[in-house]
Amino acid sequence: MPAYAVIGAQWGDEGKGKIVDYLGDNIQVLNPELKTKKSVAADIVVRANGGNNAGHTLWNPLGEFRLHLAPGGIVNPRVQIAVIGPGVVIDLNTLDAELKTIMDTLGVSLEDLLAKLFISTKAQIVFSGHIMEDFMHEVHRAIDAKQFRGEKDFKVGLSDIQQGIGTTGRGIGPSYADKSGRFGLRIEDLFDQKKFTSKFILAWNRKVRLLESFYLSRKEVSEEVKQEARKMLGKYVTEKDRLLELGEKFRGSFRNVERMLYEANRESKHILFEGAQGFHLDIDHGTYPYVTSSNCGIAGLSNAGITRFNEVIGVFKAYCTRVGSGDLTTEMIDDDDAQYAKLIREVAHEYGVTTGRPRRIGWLDLAALRHSVILNGITSSAITRLDIFDDIDFGPKKLVKVGVGYNCAHLAEERERQQKNFPQVSDLYCDDFDHYRQNGGVEPVYEELKSWGPVPVGSGHAKVHGQRSIRDLPQRAREYIARAEKFQGVPIRIISTGPKRDDTIIVAIK
Ligand code: IMP
Repeated sequence: MPAYAVIGAQWGDEGKGKIVDYLGDNIQVLNPELKTKKSVAADIVVRANGGNNAGHTLWNPLGEFRLHLAPGGIVNPRVQIAVIGPGVVIDLNTLDAELKTIMDTLGVSLEDLLAKLFISTKAQIVFSGHIMEDFMHEVHRAIDAKQFRGEKDFKVGLSDIQQGIGTTGRGIGPSYADKSGRFGLRIEDLFDQKKFTSKFILAWNRKVRLLESFYLSRKEVSEEVKQEARKMLGKYVTEKDRLLELGEKFRGSFRNVERMLYEANRESKHILFEGAQGFHLDIDHGTYPYVTSSNCGIAGLSNAGITRFNEVIGVFKAYCTRVGSGDLTTEMIDDDDAQYAKLIREVAHEYGVTTGRPRRIGWLDLAALRHSVILNGITSSAITRLDIFDDIDFGPKKLVKVGVGYNCAHLAEERERQQKNFPQVSDLYCDDFDHYRQNGGVEPVYEELKSWGPVPVGSGHAKVHGQRSIRDLPQRAREYIARAEKFQGVPIRIISTGPKRDDTIIVAIK
């Protein structure tokens, strides 16, 4: 029963797209029983959580793809089936546009693509009401933040709204909220035009009432925000007709995918699950409330007919990034660190695939990584973007930091102050909340390691970029990998050395 899962072990944007693409074409790497050195493609690739808040970039021999909803396997002709699972929230317009781009790049027809794409009938439909609500939630959070700071007589305008969670604005949270509230529209509703029409009018009317009598009712909402929110909510008839039209277009792909995956698993097909976002954005385990609205770890991948995985691969970048608000304990914000963060952002082009926002940059937080390993049963991991350090000058001593724990200065007992474990609110606040507040949060504890960059062109010095064998990596890069591996407690099986599929080293596991 060979099923495999790939999940993000940080705050999203770890490079899962590239790893899923590689494994989708080389599943033998995860299955020694195949006893072959030839590349074997996965039979099925499954996307199981989140929505078009995700942005997976992959660059395979057929082109470069930026996917938000479609599973990575859709752009690999050797993968037979691509599945969107029941836990996904789907903006059908985005999916339509994405399929169009894939068709153009691959030179295939819509029929070809739809013949291999299957969408769970239980998946939720995102509509304009959710996008409007996502926006208005952020507006209200900005109002609350200003009031909390004691500001008076203000209006919140469009430029203020990043003071909230900093969501992607794709309607993801409100869509999951409607699902839990039992107001949601499911893909299966599209089978019956009459039923869909009556459900849609209820859902749409509910959003209009919420907008007019609640969201816009606060006096701090500016005119420009009101206009924008009203514009976001689509026209009832046009939107309903469009959704029904897309429902017809994709109808042949709507399936009981859970059953299909269960059967495929019994037939020993190779099934690769692709997580979206990262575990520290998980709705339960992430840095709540600065999280997304789905389970981004193994729990989010286990609701599509398969609950046992031969391998769970945790993907992490050589440094940390985060978009939007919330804790990033190892964020590079002080002194020299800020300058390195800027360099990394530019060299690695650390801007969101979905929103284009600059990503916040931090040192690799090994304690956070270990937390992901423990809570998700990660069996081995993949490190990405180590090649970025080839081009960064980390000062005369070439020192990089890795987070190996936290200093919790407020804790009374000396022995408790330094923790190796990822800090949980419950551990920190319980004893003495007032003391915690006065003495301020947690500080990262760092270890310093030696870097190897910048590697001048033509210098003959080893660099990470494009290497295909671990022996050819700079010695210090190997030391960096070894430290990460030892701390997190599971082997690093995959080293990504560049964006292309073949820029990959597979490490033999003893
Ligand atoms: P939402 O998922 O749009 O509700 O956004 C909630 C938080 O998760 C925000 O901080 C987003 O920036 C972040 N987020 C959502 N999806 C991704 C992703 O795919 N990569 C990185 N961050 C994400």
